[in-house]
This record gives sequence, structure tokens and C-alpha cells, in this order.
Amino acid sequence: MKFAGSHILTVGQFERPDVESVFEVADAMQPYARRRKVTRVLEGAILGSMFFEPSTRTRVSFGSAFNLLGGEVRETTGIENSAIAKGESLYDTARVLSGYSDVVAMRHPEVGSVVEFAAASRVPVINGGDGSNEHPTQALLDLYTIRSELSAQGRGIDQLRIAMVGDLRFGRTVHSLCKLLCLFDGVSVTLVSPDELRMPGEIVEGLREAGHTVVESDAMEEGIAHVDIVYSTRLQEERFASSEEANLYRGRFRLNQQIYTRHCDPNTVIMHPLPRDSREAARELDDDLNENPNLAIFRQTDNGVLVRMALFALVLDVVGQVDKHAREVSWYTGSRFT
Ligand code: CP
Repeated sequence: MKFAGSHILTVGQFERPDVESVFEVADAMQPYARRRKVTRVLEGAILGSMFFEPSTRTRVSFGSAFNLLGGEVRETTGIENSAIAKGESLYDTARVLSGYSDVVAMRHPEVGSVVEFAAASRVPVINGGDGSNEHPTQALLDLYTIRSELSAQGRGIDQLRIAMVGDLRFGRTVHSLCKLLCLFDGVSVTLVSPDELRMPGEIVEGLREAGHTVVESDAMEEGIAHVDIVYSTRLQEERFASSEEANLYRGRFRLNQQIYTRHCDPNTVIMHPLPRDSREAARELDDDLNENPNLAIFRQTDNGVLVRMALFALVLDVVGQVDKHAREVSWYTGSRFT
């Protein structure tokens, strides 16, 4: 695909070489994200950050990524703080933001809303999550993390064995990740969920059409055995009709150190898109895994900055100029990234 000037709305727009291009550029962003070098390549550019649903990682890492490339960020958070609360349409909002920004990152609770916004926008729009539909940048950072974790074991993404556990019906990160995995070869996917929260049928079908092996199950202990990656997910309570309905499934699948030791192969990597629900009734990924070296959740969040920097550099067509604007950092950077 041509990245320059394009919207990033769904992982369906990528072919495998496109994903590999994003990863190559993300690799080149390491010195900047790790505060060894500074670049001002996007000096003067403005990111319109429009987050109409709660977010910590996606919103802040989009902003940090843009700042690390030298650009500035203008944020709107929450529908109640935007003119959408006064009845303004997504069309009008998009036309207005196009005049104020060079690129927009957007999250919205409605499926298809970011596509609707992008259709009216005069600048590239990047989907930061639309309802239960897609979260393409999360899928890219998840796959980048899988690539990085497995390369340490001398492996690639082809022939990956992954178990996805939890609310697979409403979890948009696993929807996008499954679609992205269709670009690779010989993947085995175990989908562990309550029957009512199974992965949407068309996504399972897509995996099978790509030649992948898919097993659907409600037995976590069996599902997480003999895989390379366990990808845990939170119950997406905000997508249920009521808390009472969500309560039917809360705490159904809990991974902790004891279960990990008993059922997982020794080097199984543990992932989660975060936020994990650390309240007693949920705890799908227990805090007692925090010192487990195979817990990759904070490597995922760090990688989110790299991948989002890469997308900005590609979409705004400055990949070849990043290093020309570079200098060494002059402030204390400590040992955060060692
Ligand atoms: N993974 C993710 O989308 O996290 P936030 O909701 O904090 O952005």
C-alpha cells in the first residue's frame, strides 16, 4: 500500500510487506523512543488527538510518538468536552479538525465511526479503536512484540502458536490481531472464551481460509498448554447491556503464577493489551506474574510508541528525513530502558 497521505483504519488494508515496512521503520525509531537521540523532523506539524472513549496507553502513546518526532499535539478527550455533545456531526467535526491538524488519531465508541470521520477528513486519520470493531495500531504493536519476543528464541511469526483468552466477542484488539495473523503462515490459534463471548464467526472463518488451525474452547488450562503466546484479555464490561450481564462472566478465566507454572511451557510469553482489571472480582492476569520475565505487557506498551512513531513517519512521508534532524539527548535519561 501507499502509506503517504493514507488513513489507517483497519488491518484489512495491509499486505504482509506493508506490515514488515512498519516494523522496519519501528526498529529505526528505537534510539528516539529510548531517549538516546532527538529528532525534530515533524517540527511545526500538529496531531489532532480525538479520544471520545477512555484511554491511557493509546492516547498518550500517540501523543508521545508525535512529540518524539518533534510535532505538537492538540487533544480533545470525552464527547462531553467536544461540540459533538451539542449535536455536531462527525462530518463537520472532521472538516473542522482537518483545518487545525496535519493528522488525526481518533477513538470513538461506535463501530464504523472512525471510517465515517475519515471520509470527511482532509488529513490522514488513524483509528485508535472504534467500538468493538477494530484497534489496528494495537494489533501492529502486538505483532511487533510477538516478533521481538520470538526472535529472542530464534523464531519468527510463521508457525506461531497462540492462545487468546477471555472476552473474544467484544475485544477489538483480538479481532484486529487475528486478521493480521491471516497474512502469515501456519499459525495455530486457540480461542478460549465462554460460549457467549466467542470470537465472531467471520474472523474465525478468515483464519481458517488463511490455512491456520483454529481450536475454540472454554477450558483455559488445556488451551494455554504448548503455545508460544498466551494473550489474555479483559472483560469488555462497557460493551454489555448491564453490569449484571457482565458479572456472569467476570473472573471466569484467571491466569496467575501457579496456573502458569502448572500448565504453560517454560518460555511461554504472556501478553495483554491492557488495561488489565486488577480488582479482586476480575484479575484475569494476576499481579503475582509481575516479576515473571515472560510477562511482556510493559514491553508491549513501550513498543506502542515505536509503532505509532513509524506510522506517523510513513503517513506523513518523512521516513528518510528522521535521522537528518537528529542530535544526541542532553538530559538525564537514567536506566528506564535497560
Ligand atoms: N490497549 C489500549 O487500547 O489501552 P487504552 O484503552 O488505555 O488506550
